[in-house]
Amino acid sequence: MPADGLNRRFLLAAPFALAACQGAAPAGAAPTALPPLKSIAPCPVGVCAMTGHFDDPAWVDLATRHFNQITPEWEMKMEAILGEDRSYDFTRPDRIAAFAAEKGMRLHGHALVWYSQGAEAFTGLDRTRFAVEYDRYIAAVAGRYRGKVVSWDVVNEAVAEDGNGLRDCHWSRSLGQDGYIIRAFEQARAADPDAVLFLNDYNLENNPVKGATFLRLVERLLKAGAPIGGIGTQSHLDIEIPAGQITTFMKDAAQFGLPIHVSELDASRRRDGGFDPRSARQKQDQQTARVTELAEAYLSLPERQRFAFTVWGLRDSDSWLTRDARAGSGDSPLLFDATGAPTTMFSALAGAFRP
Ligand code: XIL
Repeated sequence: MPADGLNRRFLLAAPFALAACQGAAPAGAAPTALPPLKSIAPCPVGVCAMTGHFDDPAWVDLATRHFNQITPEWEMKMEAILGEDRSYDFTRPDRIAAFAAEKGMRLHGHALVWYSQGAEAFTGLDRTRFAVEYDRYIAAVAGRYRGKVVSWDVVNEAVAEDGNGLRDCHWSRSLGQDGYIIRAFEQARAADPDAVLFLNDYNLENNPVKGATFLRLVERLLKAGAPIGGIGTQSHLDIEIPAGQITTFMKDAAQFGLPIHVSELDASRRRDGGFDPRSARQKQDQQTARVTELAEAYLSLPERQRFAFTVWGLRDSDSWLTRDARAGSGDSPLLFDATGAPTTMFSALAGAFRP
Protein backbone atom coordinates (compact mmCIF):
# COMPACT_ATOMS: atom_id res chain seq x y z
CA MET A 1 0.00 0.00 0.00
CA PRO A 2 1.54 3.34 -0.97
CA ALA A 3 2.73 5.37 1.95
CA ASP A 4 0.00 7.94 1.47
CA GLY A 5 -2.61 5.26 1.41
CA LEU A 6 -1.21 3.83 4.61
CA ASN A 7 -1.13 7.27 6.19
CA ARG A 8 -4.72 7.95 5.12
CA ARG A 9 -5.88 4.64 6.53
CA PHE A 10 -3.95 5.39 9.73
CA LEU A 11 -5.38 8.88 9.95
CA LEU A 12 -8.90 7.61 9.52
CA ALA A 13 -8.39 4.81 12.04
CA ALA A 14 -6.38 6.79 14.56
CA PRO A 15 -9.29 8.41 16.42
CA PHE A 16 -11.09 5.09 16.68
CA ALA A 17 -7.95 3.30 17.87
CA LEU A 18 -7.23 6.04 20.35
CA ALA A 19 -10.84 6.11 21.46
CA ALA A 20 -10.66 2.36 22.07
CA CYS A 21 -7.88 2.90 24.57
CA GLN A 22 -9.63 5.98 25.97
CA GLY A 23 -8.19 7.00 29.25
CA ALA A 24 -4.86 5.28 28.68
CA ALA A 25 -3.28 8.69 28.32
CA PRO A 26 -3.68 11.24 31.11
CA ALA A 27 -6.47 13.71 30.46
CA GLY A 28 -5.40 16.28 27.90
CA ALA A 29 -2.16 14.54 27.01
CA ALA A 30 -1.60 14.96 23.30
CA PRO A 31 -1.60 11.50 21.73
CA THR A 32 1.86 11.44 20.24
CA ALA A 33 0.89 9.04 17.45
CA LEU A 34 -1.39 11.59 15.79
CA PRO A 35 0.37 13.74 13.21
CA PRO A 36 0.03 17.45 13.96
CA LEU A 37 -2.81 18.93 11.90
CA LYS A 38 -0.56 21.81 10.88
CA SER A 39 1.88 19.30 9.33
CA ILE A 40 -0.71 17.80 6.99
CA ALA A 41 -2.88 20.84 6.26
CA PRO A 42 -2.62 22.69 2.92
CA CYS A 43 -2.62 26.05 4.70
CA PRO A 44 -2.18 27.58 8.16
CA VAL A 45 -4.59 26.10 10.67
CA GLY A 46 -6.02 28.21 13.44
CA VAL A 47 -7.90 27.85 16.69
CA CYS A 48 -9.69 30.48 18.73
CA ALA A 49 -8.32 31.22 22.18
CA MET A 50 -9.04 33.05 25.41
CA THR A 51 -6.42 34.22 27.91
CA GLY A 52 -7.79 31.68 30.41
CA HIS A 53 -6.64 28.90 28.12
CA PHE A 54 -3.02 29.95 28.54
CA ASP A 55 -3.12 28.80 32.18
CA ASP A 56 -4.21 25.29 31.10
CA PRO A 57 -1.12 23.26 30.16
CA ALA A 58 -3.25 20.62 28.43
CA TRP A 59 -4.80 23.31 26.22
CA VAL A 60 -1.42 24.90 25.46
CA ASP A 61 0.20 21.55 24.63
CA LEU A 62 -2.61 20.43 22.32
CA ALA A 63 -3.13 23.80 20.63
CA THR A 64 0.54 24.46 19.95
CA ARG A 65 1.04 20.88 18.68
CA HIS A 66 -1.73 21.07 16.07
CA PHE A 67 -2.16 24.75 15.17
CA ASN A 68 0.00 27.61 13.91
CA GLN A 69 -2.52 30.45 14.06
CA ILE A 70 -4.70 31.95 16.80
CA THR A 71 -7.87 34.04 16.74
CA PRO A 72 -8.93 35.77 19.98
CA GLU A 73 -12.37 34.34 20.73
CA TRP A 74 -13.67 37.58 22.32
CA GLU A 75 -10.80 39.49 23.93
CA MET A 76 -9.83 41.59 20.92
CA LYS A 77 -13.41 42.78 20.41
CA MET A 78 -14.91 46.03 21.65
CA GLU A 79 -16.43 44.25 24.65
CA ALA A 80 -12.89 43.63 25.99
CA ILE A 81 -11.22 46.86 24.93
CA LEU A 82 -13.73 49.73 24.81
CA GLY A 83 -15.10 51.24 28.02
CA GLU A 84 -18.49 52.94 28.09
CA ASP A 85 -16.49 56.16 28.68
CA ARG A 86 -14.65 55.39 25.43
CA SER A 87 -11.44 54.54 27.27
CA TYR A 88 -9.37 51.62 25.97
CA ASP A 89 -8.02 48.66 27.95
CA PHE A 90 -5.61 46.46 26.02
CA THR A 91 -4.68 44.13 28.89
CA ARG A 92 -6.39 41.04 27.47
CA PRO A 93 -5.56 41.43 23.78
CA ASP A 94 -1.96 42.26 24.67
CA ARG A 95 -1.70 38.92 26.51
CA ILE A 96 -3.05 37.06 23.49
CA ALA A 97 -0.62 38.85 21.20
CA ALA A 98 2.24 38.02 23.56
CA PHE A 99 1.23 34.34 23.67
CA ALA A 100 1.08 34.10 19.88
CA ALA A 101 4.49 35.74 19.57
CA GLU A 102 5.98 33.51 22.28
CA LYS A 103 4.68 30.37 20.56
CA GLY A 104 5.56 31.51 17.06
CA MET A 105 1.91 31.39 15.99
CA ARG A 106 0.26 33.77 13.53
CA LEU A 107 -2.35 36.06 15.05
CA HIS A 108 -5.63 36.87 13.27
CA GLY A 109 -7.31 39.95 14.74
CA HIS A 110 -11.02 39.59 15.51
CA ALA A 111 -12.97 41.86 15.22
CA LEU A 112 -12.66 45.60 14.80
CA VAL A 113 -16.33 46.37 14.07
CA TRP A 114 -19.28 44.10 14.94
CA TYR A 115 -22.94 45.04 14.91
CA SER A 116 -23.51 43.52 18.33
CA GLN A 117 -21.01 45.57 20.32
CA GLY A 118 -20.01 49.18 21.04
CA ALA A 119 -23.42 50.83 21.15
CA GLU A 120 -23.12 51.95 24.78
CA ALA A 121 -19.90 53.88 24.22
CA PHE A 122 -21.29 55.61 21.13
CA THR A 123 -24.68 56.51 22.53
CA GLY A 124 -25.50 60.22 22.48
CA LEU A 125 -22.76 61.25 20.09
CA ASP A 126 -23.71 63.48 17.19
CA ARG A 127 -22.72 62.21 13.77
CA THR A 128 -19.48 64.17 13.61
CA ARG A 129 -18.24 63.02 17.02
CA PHE A 130 -19.50 59.48 16.30
CA ALA A 131 -17.32 59.35 13.17
CA VAL A 132 -14.33 60.77 15.03
CA GLU A 133 -14.60 58.19 17.82
CA TYR A 134 -15.22 55.39 15.31
CA ASP A 135 -12.08 56.27 13.37
CA ARG A 136 -10.10 56.77 16.59
CA TYR A 137 -10.99 53.32 17.90
CA ILE A 138 -10.11 51.48 14.69
CA ALA A 139 -6.87 53.43 14.28
CA ALA A 140 -5.90 52.79 17.90
CA VAL A 141 -6.56 49.05 17.86
CA ALA A 142 -5.29 48.27 14.37
CA GLY A 143 -2.31 50.53 14.98
CA ARG A 144 -1.43 48.87 18.29
CA TYR A 145 -1.28 45.40 16.76
CA ARG A 146 0.44 46.43 13.54
CA GLY A 147 3.25 43.94 13.02
CA LYS A 148 1.65 41.58 15.54
CA VAL A 149 -1.41 40.45 13.56
CA VAL A 150 -1.25 39.10 10.02
CA SER A 151 -4.87 39.98 9.39
CA TRP A 152 -8.10 41.42 10.76
CA ASP A 153 -11.77 40.73 10.63
CA VAL A 154 -12.41 44.40 10.00
CA VAL A 155 -16.20 44.15 9.84
CA ASN A 156 -18.03 41.13 11.20
CA GLU A 157 -21.54 39.96 10.27
CA ALA A 158 -22.72 42.90 8.15
CA VAL A 159 -25.38 40.89 6.28
CA ALA A 160 -28.90 40.58 7.72
CA GLU A 161 -29.68 37.38 9.61
CA ASP A 162 -31.97 36.03 6.86
CA GLY A 163 -29.68 37.21 4.09
CA ASN A 164 -32.12 39.77 2.74
CA GLY A 165 -30.02 42.93 2.59
CA LEU A 166 -27.63 44.26 5.19
CA ARG A 167 -28.01 44.37 8.94
CA ASP A 168 -29.35 47.55 10.47
CA CYS A 169 -27.19 48.55 13.43
CA HIS A 170 -25.87 51.60 15.31
CA TRP A 171 -22.92 51.76 12.92
CA SER A 172 -25.08 51.78 9.79
CA ARG A 173 -27.59 54.21 11.24
CA SER A 174 -24.90 56.76 11.91
CA LEU A 175 -22.43 56.20 9.08
CA GLY A 176 -24.57 54.54 6.37
CA GLN A 177 -25.10 50.90 5.36
CA ASP A 178 -22.02 50.55 3.14
CA GLY A 179 -20.50 53.70 4.65
CA TYR A 180 -19.49 52.26 8.00
CA ILE A 181 -17.97 49.23 6.30
CA ILE A 182 -15.91 51.19 3.77
CA ARG A 183 -14.82 53.61 6.50
CA ALA A 184 -13.67 50.77 8.76
CA PHE A 185 -11.60 49.18 6.01
CA GLU A 186 -10.04 52.54 5.11
CA GLN A 187 -9.16 53.27 8.74
CA ALA A 188 -7.74 49.78 9.23
CA ARG A 189 -5.65 50.05 6.07
CA ALA A 190 -4.27 53.43 7.15
CA ALA A 191 -3.36 52.02 10.57
CA ASP A 192 -1.88 48.78 9.28
CA PRO A 193 -0.71 48.78 5.65
CA ASP A 194 0.33 45.13 5.80
CA ALA A 195 -2.52 43.23 7.44
CA VAL A 196 -4.91 41.23 5.26
CA LEU A 197 -8.28 42.88 5.84
CA PHE A 198 -11.30 40.53 5.91
CA LEU A 199 -15.04 40.89 5.68
CA ASN A 200 -16.33 38.03 7.82
CA ASP A 201 -19.80 36.48 8.11
CA TYR A 202 -21.70 33.31 8.98
CA ASN A 203 -24.29 30.95 7.48
CA LEU A 204 -22.90 31.69 4.03
CA GLU A 205 -22.88 27.98 3.15
CA ASN A 206 -25.94 27.09 5.22
CA ASN A 207 -28.12 29.79 3.63
CA PRO A 208 -27.45 30.34 -0.10
CA VAL A 209 -29.50 33.57 -0.04
CA LYS A 210 -27.21 34.98 2.62
CA GLY A 211 -24.12 33.72 0.83
CA ALA A 212 -25.21 35.45 -2.38
CA THR A 213 -25.98 38.70 -0.56
CA PHE A 214 -22.58 38.58 1.10
CA LEU A 215 -20.78 38.09 -2.20
CA ARG A 216 -22.75 40.91 -3.82
CA LEU A 217 -21.67 43.11 -0.90
CA VAL A 218 -18.02 42.15 -1.45
CA GLU A 219 -18.34 42.99 -5.14
CA ARG A 220 -19.98 46.35 -4.40
CA LEU A 221 -17.39 47.29 -1.80
CA LEU A 222 -14.49 46.33 -4.06
CA LYS A 223 -16.00 48.48 -6.84
CA ALA A 224 -16.28 51.32 -4.34
CA GLY A 225 -12.57 51.00 -3.69
CA ALA A 226 -12.74 49.50 -0.20
CA PRO A 227 -9.40 47.83 0.58
CA ILE A 228 -10.94 44.42 1.22
CA GLY A 229 -8.12 41.90 1.19
CA GLY A 230 -9.97 38.71 2.07
CA ILE A 231 -13.24 36.88 2.60
CA GLY A 232 -14.00 35.21 5.92
CA THR A 233 -16.63 32.49 6.02
CA GLN A 234 -17.22 31.46 9.61
CA SER A 235 -18.50 27.97 8.69
CA HIS A 236 -20.53 27.27 11.80
CA LEU A 237 -21.87 24.38 9.76
CA ASP A 238 -25.43 23.14 9.76
CA ILE A 239 -24.65 19.50 9.10
CA GLU A 240 -28.18 18.87 7.79
CA ILE A 241 -27.81 21.10 4.71
CA PRO A 242 -27.89 19.38 1.32
CA ALA A 243 -24.64 18.12 -0.17
CA GLY A 244 -23.12 20.63 -2.58
CA GLN A 245 -24.12 23.92 -0.95
CA ILE A 246 -20.72 24.30 0.67
CA THR A 247 -18.91 23.55 -2.57
CA THR A 248 -21.07 26.01 -4.49
CA PHE A 249 -20.46 28.84 -2.06
CA MET A 250 -16.69 28.24 -1.98
CA LYS A 251 -16.54 28.25 -5.78
CA ASP A 252 -18.59 31.47 -5.92
CA ALA A 253 -16.45 33.08 -3.23
CA ALA A 254 -13.29 32.27 -5.17
CA GLN A 255 -14.43 34.50 -8.07
CA PHE A 256 -12.73 37.61 -6.63
CA GLY A 257 -9.34 35.95 -6.43
CA LEU A 258 -9.07 37.01 -2.77
CA PRO A 259 -7.69 34.94 0.10
CA ILE A 260 -10.46 32.99 1.82
CA HIS A 261 -10.45 32.22 5.54
CA VAL A 262 -12.56 29.44 6.96
CA SER A 263 -12.63 31.47 10.12
CA GLU A 264 -14.76 29.76 12.78
CA LEU A 265 -15.46 26.14 11.89
CA ASP A 266 -17.58 24.06 14.19
CA ALA A 267 -20.15 21.45 13.22
CA SER A 268 -22.77 20.93 15.90
CA ARG A 269 -24.57 17.60 15.96
CA ARG A 270 -27.51 19.14 17.83
CA ARG A 271 -30.72 20.42 16.23
CA ASP A 272 -32.26 23.54 17.71
CA GLY A 273 -35.62 22.84 19.30
CA GLY A 274 -37.97 19.93 18.90
CA PHE A 275 -37.52 16.20 18.70
CA ASP A 276 -34.45 14.98 16.82
CA PRO A 277 -35.04 11.50 15.36
CA ARG A 278 -31.48 11.11 14.09
CA SER A 279 -29.33 8.41 15.64
CA ALA A 280 -25.88 9.26 16.98
CA ARG A 281 -24.38 7.49 13.96
CA GLN A 282 -26.51 9.47 11.53
CA LYS A 283 -25.37 12.73 13.12
CA GLN A 284 -21.74 11.63 13.04
CA ASP A 285 -22.04 10.66 9.39
CA GLN A 286 -23.66 14.00 8.53
CA GLN A 287 -20.90 15.85 10.32
CA THR A 288 -18.22 13.81 8.55
CA ALA A 289 -19.84 14.45 5.17
CA ARG A 290 -20.16 18.21 5.55
CA VAL A 291 -16.74 18.75 7.13
CA THR A 292 -15.17 16.63 4.39
CA GLU A 293 -17.03 18.67 1.76
CA LEU A 294 -15.80 21.92 3.29
CA ALA A 295 -12.19 20.72 3.42
CA GLU A 296 -12.29 19.39 -0.14
CA ALA A 297 -13.90 22.61 -1.41
CA TYR A 298 -11.19 24.57 0.37
CA LEU A 299 -8.49 22.35 -1.09
CA SER A 300 -9.87 23.08 -4.56
CA LEU A 301 -8.99 26.76 -4.14
CA PRO A 302 -5.73 28.00 -5.63
CA GLU A 303 -3.04 27.96 -2.93
CA ARG A 304 -2.83 31.78 -2.94
CA GLN A 305 -6.50 31.87 -1.86
CA ARG A 306 -6.13 29.41 1.02
CA PHE A 307 -5.48 31.97 3.79
CA ALA A 308 -6.16 29.72 6.79
CA PHE A 309 -8.57 27.14 8.15
CA THR A 310 -9.65 27.98 11.72
CA VAL A 311 -11.77 26.01 14.16
CA TRP A 312 -13.87 27.78 16.76
CA GLY A 313 -12.56 26.00 19.82
CA LEU A 314 -9.95 23.38 20.61
CA ARG A 315 -11.87 20.71 22.56
CA ASP A 316 -15.62 20.08 22.56
CA SER A 317 -15.65 21.40 26.12
CA ASP A 318 -14.11 24.70 24.93
CA SER A 319 -16.84 25.33 22.38
CA TRP A 320 -19.20 28.28 22.76
CA LEU A 321 -21.86 25.77 21.70
CA THR A 322 -21.40 23.52 24.70
CA ARG A 323 -20.35 25.97 27.37
CA ASP A 324 -23.68 26.23 29.17
CA ALA A 325 -25.11 23.12 30.74
CA ARG A 326 -28.29 23.20 28.62
CA ALA A 327 -26.41 22.89 25.37
CA GLY A 328 -23.52 20.80 26.59
CA SER A 329 -25.07 17.35 26.64
CA GLY A 330 -23.80 15.13 23.88
CA ASP A 331 -22.64 17.62 21.33
CA SER A 332 -19.28 17.15 19.66
CA PRO A 333 -18.71 20.11 17.30
CA LEU A 334 -14.90 20.17 17.25
CA LEU A 335 -11.74 18.19 16.49
CA PHE A 336 -10.92 17.05 20.00
CA ASP A 337 -13.09 15.80 22.86
CA ALA A 338 -12.91 17.12 26.41
CA THR A 339 -9.93 14.85 27.19
CA GLY A 340 -7.96 16.06 24.17
CA ALA A 341 -8.52 12.87 22.18
CA PRO A 342 -9.27 13.38 18.48
CA THR A 343 -12.90 13.08 17.41
CA THR A 344 -14.20 11.62 14.19
CA MET A 345 -14.36 15.23 12.96
CA PHE A 346 -10.56 15.32 13.24
CA SER A 347 -10.27 12.19 11.11
CA ALA A 348 -12.68 13.68 8.55
CA LEU A 349 -10.64 16.85 8.28
CA ALA A 350 -7.26 15.13 8.35
CA GLY A 351 -8.46 12.55 5.85
CA ALA A 352 -9.64 15.26 3.45
CA PHE A 353 -6.48 17.31 3.87
CA ARG A 354 -4.24 14.33 3.25
CA PRO A 355 -5.95 12.16 0.59
C1 XIL B 1 -18.54 34.20 20.25
C2 XIL B 1 -17.61 33.59 21.30
O1 XIL B 1 -17.34 32.24 20.96
C3 XIL B 1 -18.23 33.70 22.68
O2 XIL B 1 -17.28 33.25 23.64
C4 XIL B 1 -18.61 35.14 22.96
O3 XIL B 1 -19.25 35.19 24.21
C5 XIL B 1 -19.53 35.66 21.86
O4 XIL B 1 -18.90 35.54 20.59
N1 XIL B 1 -19.47 34.73 15.27
C6 XIL B 1 -18.35 35.42 15.62
C7 XIL B 1 -17.67 35.17 16.90
O5 XIL B 1 -17.79 36.16 14.80
O6 XIL B 1 -17.00 36.33 17.41
C8 XIL B 1 -18.64 34.65 17.93
O7 XIL B 1 -17.85 34.22 19.03
C9 XIL B 1 -19.43 33.48 17.36
C10 XIL B 1 -20.22 33.90 16.14
